[in-house]
Amino acid sequence: MEISSELLKVIKSAKKVCVLTGAGISAESGVPTFRGGGNSAVWKGMPFDQISSARMVRENLAEVWEWFDYRRGVLQNCQPNAAHFALAKWQKKFEDFTLVTQNIDGLHTRAGSEDLLELHGNINRSYCTNCEKRFQMNAEDIPHKPDSCDECGAKVRPDVVLFGEILPLEVFRKAEQKSRECDLFFIIGTSALVYPAAGLAEIAKYSGAKLIEINPEDTPLTDFCDFQIREKAGEFLPSLTVFML
Ligand code: OAD
Repeated sequence: MEISSELLKVIKSAKKVCVLTGAGISAESGVPTFRGGGNSAVWKGMPFDQISSARMVRENLAEVWEWFDYRRGVLQNCQPNAAHFALAKWQKKFEDFTLVTQNIDGLHTRAGSEDLLELHGNINRSYCTNCEKRFQMNAEDIPHKPDSCDECGAKVRPDVVLFGEILPLEVFRKAEQKSRECDLFFIIGTSALVYPAAGLAEIAKYSGAKLIEINPEDTPLTDFCDFQIREKAGEFLPSLTVFML
């Protein structure tokens, strides 16, 4: 795989690096993306932004759980891929390294990434709809456990940010700060359509960072980037890692 000397120069001189990942980084693990086809974009005839919504939690929590338990089931057969493992190595290769993900699949952590900023939550966590007590679920437990809170008895819901909900404030603040401070920002495997996550790349660029996009397809941010790599993350990231000291 050819890697330009200009790109290598930018990477080798970077001290503070921030990476934003999306569903595309897990595509080679067999996790369906949202907007790239596959069978996770629609559930029982409902588009994912309808089933994954704050409104559905209020109106039909059981159905929301059915959808998330289905996705948890899909993940049982998925392993981190070469792209996840490459990024886990990067945390030791730069003076300051921050990994921000929109994914809820936990594959970055399973590959060894630490201090991951999960903007949209995690599919194996849940919380009480009343007292907000949090629960870590076993990935093997499908359907999910517990179904109701052991403190107050109310129903629990997935600890995932749904349409119509705000992002976890502290996590987003940290991601925003790191995006502002970094000198190099990677956008990997995201359609860059969902805000405020996609806005982190804009914050980085306006603060002076170079932007590198890794995605087989164009996105609305492509022209905004300094480097566009039209490759699959699982193929390109390991090749790039070889050139890093
Ligand atoms: P999308 O499904 O919108 O986009 C996936 C992107 O990955 C596309 O741009 C693909 O071209 C790219 N892609 C596919 N295979 C790839 C590969 N092997 N290597 C690199 N890139 C690849 O997923 P997201 O952008 O992550 O939010 O979606 C953002 C948010 O939309 C999700 O976090 C989710 C959804 O609504 C919530 O659920 C809150």
